[in-house]
Amino acid sequence: MFIKALKEKKKKISVIGLGYVGLPLALELAKKFSVIGLDISESRVEQMKKGVDPSNELEASAFLDKDIEFTSKTKDLKRAHFHIVAVPTPVDDHKVPNLRPLLSAAESVGKNLKKGDYVVFESTVYPGCTEEDCLPILEEKSGLKLGKDFKIGYSPERINPGDKEHTVDKILKVVSGSDEEALEVIAEVYGAIITAGIYKATTIKVAESAKVIENTQRDLNIAFMNELSMIFDTMDIDTNAVLEAAGTKWNFLPFSPGLVGGHCIGVDPYYLLHKATKLGFSPQVITSGRATNDGMPAFIAKRLVQMLIKKGKNPSQCKVLVLGITFKENVSDIRNSKVADLIKELMNFSVNVHLTDPHASPNEVAHEYGLTMIDEISKNYDAVIAAVCHEQYKKLDQGYFKSIMNGDPILMDLKAMYPTPPENGLEIWRL
Ligand SMILES: NC(=O)c1ccc[n+]([C@@H]2O[C@H](COP(=O)([O-])OP(=O)(O)OC[C@H]3O[C@@H](n4cnc5c(N)ncnc54)[C@H](O)[C@@H]3O)[C@@H](O)[C@H]2O)c1
Repeated sequence: MFIKALKEKKKKISVIGLGYVGLPLALELAKKFSVIGLDISESRVEQMKKGVDPSNELEASAFLDKDIEFTSKTKDLKRAHFHIVAVPTPVDDHKVPNLRPLLSAAESVGKNLKKGDYVVFESTVYPGCTEEDCLPILEEKSGLKLGKDFKIGYSPERINPGDKEHTVDKILKVVSGSDEEALEVIAEVYGAIITAGIYKATTIKVAESAKVIENTQRDLNIAFMNELSMIFDTMDIDTNAVLEAAGTKWNFLPFSPGLVGGHCIGVDPYYLLHKATKLGFSPQVITSGRATNDGMPAFIAKRLVQMLIKKGKNPSQCKVLVLGITFKENVSDIRNSKVADLIKELMNFSVNVHLTDPHASPNEVAHEYGLTMIDEISKNYDAVIAAVCHEQYKKLDQGYFKSIMNGDPILMDLKAMYPTPPENGLEIWRL
């Protein structure tokens, strides 16, 4: 029995890619099983060996009493029999899926695959990727055949970085397998650590599709809110007040306008679009939602410049403070930050922008976006853009904003964090 051998630690589990998804999963598995955690980044592996999460999500205590061995050597995969791949699946500059990390991970697993092994992919992909792109690499590199020699599956991850409540074990897990037996074994392995339950999808493609549409649906709902906020802005109607009123109906869905950054919601729809387009289909709704959300930084920058000019100010002589650059609240992840796009739009209007964020690393921000963060918030700002809903920013009040701004100030409250109406001549603009 495969699961028995895993539980008795006669066989090991490997997790390939120890980022936001892979590390918490590997540590959870290491409570019950013997785990090999592989990451190509030696510096990240060195940190994990010292009990430090390079993604700043987990405390040192999460590493205690776990049967896990961290490595950057792919040949160590030879000693494992159940492999889980959780490497990044980004898009390139043209918004086309970049499968390089995934295919290279499949190659590493393939070279070390043995008869009787299982390989489960967790990375978010388009429907068909596991069987059409990853499987051929596994077979070619191992010389083994699916079904006869080894089995595969797909189990999407739903982890929500920064969320201390919905940890990996408390999120219902969708699993799928290349045949009935694979499905049962994969469900048993995850079932040993996930307390929220297991959902067995009928096929690998169904599980892949389910994941990609979860985030696409969110993208579209937010795009609708953003479109509404642009319409209401032209009529000087407060979108948040409208949403609160509409939300009193039992079936009105609670979404808010905002910047859609990060590596999931703003990226995953491109995977679905890529596959659909390849098949000759031209999705209108998904494309339109993406365009709306990607256009928000330019819209917000333009609105601020209009407001400054209306106040008789020359934007090129204005100083604007931006609070927050991470892709969401209370995390350090700055990948695909739409706040960075907003800052660049403002810089194109020659606005002098000061950026600060208690969670973001100044080095990473400089490396990723060429932006320098300020050491200390100064005074006399013409406007403040509260862009990310970090706990530290939620505590600020209008009195504080007035104290760091000059006459006739504007507060752009992109996350509707602060109560209205404004006091003491502060103008508050919300999406
Ligand atoms: N972060 C999330 O909130 C989230 C949620 C659900 C699903 N996902 C999906 O999970 C996957 C992983 O995302 P993430 O946020 O954990 O990524 P990440 O960038 O945080 O981590 C990925 C890790 O994989 C390593 N890596 C890259 N290529 C490798 C290779 N060939 N072999 C071994 N290691 C390699 C990197 O060094 C990095 O440490 C993606 O497909 C993502 O879309 C992410």
